[in-house]
Amino acid sequence: MTIGDLRTSDRLLLGPGPANVDPRVMRALQTPVLGHLDPEFMAVLAELMGMLRGVFETKNELTLAVSGTGSAGMEAACVTAVEPGDSALVCTAGYFGARLQEVLKRCGALVTTVEAPWGQPIDPEDVRKAAAAKKPKLIAIVHAETSTGVRHPIEDVAAIAKSHDALLLVDAVTALGGIPLRADEMGIDLVYSCTQKCLGAPPGMSPVTVSEAARNRIRARSRGNQSFYLDLEALLSYWSGGTYHHTMSATMIYALREAARMCLEEGMGSRWARHEKAGKALQAGLEAIGLKLFAPTQCRLPQLTTVETPAGVDEARVRCRLLQEFNIEIGAGLGPLRGKIWRIGVMGANAYAQPVLTLIAALEGILAGEGFGFPGGAGVAAATRAFAP
Ligand SMILES: Cc1ncc(COP(=O)(O)O)c(C=O)c1O
Repeated sequence: MTIGDLRTSDRLLLGPGPANVDPRVMRALQTPVLGHLDPEFMAVLAELMGMLRGVFETKNELTLAVSGTGSAGMEAACVTAVEPGDSALVCTAGYFGARLQEVLKRCGALVTTVEAPWGQPIDPEDVRKAAAAKKPKLIAIVHAETSTGVRHPIEDVAAIAKSHDALLLVDAVTALGGIPLRADEMGIDLVYSCTQKCLGAPPGMSPVTVSEAARNRIRARSRGNQSFYLDLEALLSYWSGGTYHHTMSATMIYALREAARMCLEEGMGSRWARHEKAGKALQAGLEAIGLKLFAPTQCRLPQLTTVETPAGVDEARVRCRLLQEFNIEIGAGLGPLRGKIWRIGVMGANAYAQPVLTLIAALEGILAGEGFGFPGGAGVAAATRAFAP
């Protein structure tokens, strides 16, 4: 039997993630695999913990990466933060807020929700009232809601959590590396992310950090962690003490190390500014084509833009044509937004002029063919202007 070589298309990945992997990270993936208890590998882990502290802007000792995607980080943070019967307040205004709520429920938390319509930011006043009424042990919120393209008010919610002596858990899966996130300064107790979005590595690891206050609270709990694989204290004993826990993928650690190294070389502030510029340019280009952006201006994310599909245009057909004719992936809407919006990510290695202008040019061509009238070339011109120094 002859099985051919694996040949996949070289796509421009402009959906909600994964984004394209930087060539430096691709090269790091070829580094020889070390055993997960090899002293050389333990030194790599120790160094990476320090690098991740830089990326999260934290001094937290418990800063590492969980094996698995962002959802593994979500489960690890939730199962660490609550024990059955704990009250938790979850802010939900989209698909991932709802998932956070579901995971906390599965961990046995007594969940109350503060909701906002999909496409709107959470209102801190609603959180304040709910926290006063419910006295939760934990408040959880998604920083960058990938289903709607909305940035939620983390600082306001952190102040409310602090005033009620509740822990703050933040989903930074789409946020980390793309918009300002300073774990210590913002008063975040538990935060998790992923590798495949604004950090520019393949999917497979979930960076996590936990504050000392949260750890002290958790240590005082009556029961041990319900999860073995996602027990963050046990993982810390492995990462910093070499106590065997599971067989870590050395390859993914190398990739994350290179991605984190690139973040720190660039500087987190410059990286956020680069995403801001690329996102604004994309949004200027889309509006110049006559498209309506879904998320309101004041809370619109730069790294993930949601765009309303114009009346009369077939949402799925445009996405398929981008993929088949131009090798470009963009995302569809989730849940109630399915068929109604596109989700366009400019993350990590894609937060530059070339990917943005390539997409806008392709979209202009396709939309013209689909009968959507607009001044030809206007999108590329507007985005080019926005990239001008
Ligand atoms: C905000 C948010 N949270 C959680 C997840 C789940 O992450 P993953 O798909 O890496 O498991 C995603 C995935 O896109 C996300 O955008």
